[in-house]
Amino acid sequence: ENASIPPSSLPPPGSSKHMPHSIIIGVRKGGTRALLEMLDIHPEVTAAATEVHFFDWDENYFKGLQWYQDQMPYSFPNQITIEKTPGYFTSPVAPERIHAMNPSIKLLLILRDPTERVISDYTQVYFNRLENHKPVQAIESMLIKNGVLNSRYKAIQRSLYDVHMRNWLRFFPLDQIHIVDGDTLIHDPLPELQRVERFLDLPPRIVADNFYFNQTKGFFCIRSEGLERCLHESKGRPHPPVDNTVLKKLRLYLKQHNRSFFALIGRTFKWQ
Ligand code: A3P
Repeated sequence: ENASIPPSSLPPPGSSKHMPHSIIIGVRKGGTRALLEMLDIHPEVTAAATEVHFFDWDENYFKGLQWYQDQMPYSFPNQITIEKTPGYFTSPVAPERIHAMNPSIKLLLILRDPTERVISDYTQVYFNRLENHKPVQAIESMLIKNGVLNSRYKAIQRSLYDVHMRNWLRFFPLDQIHIVDGDTLIHDPLPELQRVERFLDLPPRIVADNFYFNQTKGFFCIRSEGLERCLHESKGRPHPPVDNTVLKKLRLYLKQHNRSFFALIGRTFKWQ
């Protein structure tokens, strides 16, 4: 019987699907995939395999909460469920909708230098367009229009952390949003993961041996349950060089926003 159902679609005995206990809300290109995969090392964590886009895409949101729960992985009673959708952080509707689902949910936000994030965002779109045989433009012509910084460029808009954070703080207290330093996660993942374990009240299970530096990839990779794996090749791509005067304009523009973000969260980062 059940011969037509592949074994992988059968739930492991004793497991079931649950609403997330925590959500990685962004930021796009902040290192969200790395954070999720690294947290998934923890035996008491199960992670949704793909980005769910429930709270930011109306066509999903209006399918209802049962649909959302159906997207979650099977978990055992001792495990918590985590999903990541980087689009939530910059979505004007996601904070209110997540709050309506669960006002005490723990939120994880991974951020990196917002200038670097713009370039990473451009790089991702560049490769997506190449794959789809669409025309591409040099990064400078996206960043500059008529000689001035094109602040309406989406990649720049997404790097205005203060603007988006203000929207989250209307619904959630600051201590419910744990900020992971995405730049540190690249160079030294363990301490960032240990801070997340504490924030989520998980027993400390992630250890130094779970990470090893892969020279070829140029990034840390994961060792867990006897298996070694690096993130997909689209994670950790080289960035294009950017004209220095253009870069300066971008940095200057983001500087004020960074300052106001630091004031909002009562913490500073190495980004100038
Ligand atoms: P780049 O590809 O621009 O270097 P996201 O998963 O949110 O899209 O973030 C992608 C970014 O995660 C990558 O951006 C990379 O810098 C960062 N990252 C952090 N740790 C990584 C790791 N161990 N392997 C690969 N990429 C990692």
